[in-house]
Amino acid sequence: MKTLNAAIIGCGAIHTCHVEALRQTPGVALRAVVDVDKDKGLALSAGYGCHFYQDYREMLCDVAIDAVHICTPHYLHKPMILAALAAGKQVFCEKPVAMNMAEVTEIREAEIQASGQLGVCYQNRLNPTSLALRQLLEENTIGRVLSINAFLTWSRTEPYYAHSAWRGHYATEGGSLLINQAIHTLDLMQWLGGGVTRLKAVVDCARLADTIETEDTAMATLDFSGGARGLFFASNNHTQDAPLQLDIHGENGELQLRNNTLWHVDDGKRVEIASDEAPYGHSKRYWGNGHINAIRQFYDAVRSDSHSGVTGLNDAAKSLHLVEAIYRSSQLRQWVTLPE
Ligand SMILES: NC(=O)c1ccc[n+]([C@@H]2O[C@H](COP(=O)([O-])OP(=O)(O)OC[C@H]3O[C@@H](n4cnc5c(N)ncnc54)[C@H](O)[C@@H]3O)[C@@H](O)[C@H]2O)c1
Repeated sequence: MKTLNAAIIGCGAIHTCHVEALRQTPGVALRAVVDVDKDKGLALSAGYGCHFYQDYREMLCDVAIDAVHICTPHYLHKPMILAALAAGKQVFCEKPVAMNMAEVTEIREAEIQASGQLGVCYQNRLNPTSLALRQLLEENTIGRVLSINAFLTWSRTEPYYAHSAWRGHYATEGGSLLINQAIHTLDLMQWLGGGVTRLKAVVDCARLADTIETEDTAMATLDFSGGARGLFFASNNHTQDAPLQLDIHGENGELQLRNNTLWHVDDGKRVEIASDEAPYGHSKRYWGNGHINAIRQFYDAVRSDSHSGVTGLNDAAKSLHLVEAIYRSSQLRQWVTLPE
């Protein structure tokens, strides 16, 4: 098996998950890290035993590099994806794939011309509880789905925003709570619910108004294509990062995600279905534990020249579309319809 050489662009909070996943993926080697912070990048590359580049465009000229992981601020995703695809690399990008749907259109055009494929990191889809939820819904275990409700309360305070200056600004982060933290929840809701047809939302910046120009709280009422209703509430103003609470209510029972454990509730009986095992040491619990599986599936897809198991551009764009619709609905104070 030919070794596939990877480079990681951006050596911040999330990059350690990618380093660890690469270590645990057979036939893949970390060849380079890239960061504008030279001291940090040099120190990390020495520790990893790989090359260091300060300029990602120089790294893209390294013909030995097959795949590029993009772990940078959101405003850099689109230009880095375009450059990496143009250089013939395989690309695995952290969520969100872009800042908005206009950027998605540009990426789609570039992807059509590219030889490499683009995968986007929605690792929570691979949590054991998420996979079990999807399977139970496909098997019609709770009958027709009536509602899908999600409640996400995390904590992001001033030091989090002070640590990385790109966060908290529309121009560089594209939003905050919705596009950065709750996008995983929106992705799961649409992935499980089969698409959202319309929504009405309220977006607010409550506690962090002196710190960020973006939002820290949002709620939405949704309609799914299958006829189910949805309720979504998310806030970064909790005092800790609480596990996502998800309730899927069907005609013949309910599926409940509590404390990273999935329960099937029927006629008052609660049966444990699946639990997300403790994440490895490099991942924060609230990030889920799917990075290793997501990155392995990406390299499997690259090797087999398929897109199997990978969240591709169109799929990744669905949650971004929801984020945009939530902002728009809140601004207009109206229901917003999403295209099929
Ligand atoms: N999948 C998840 O659960 C998850 C969790 C956390 C973060 N993320 C995503 O990962 C990405 C990075 O977030 P983070 O929290 O690690 O950010 P961060 O601020 O901690 O790190 C960003 C890094 O990128 C570097 N950088 C900035 N400009 C660069 C450039 N031009 N070239 C090379 N390096 C550059 C910075 O110096 C920094 O080291 C974001 O897209 C974020 O949404 C995903």
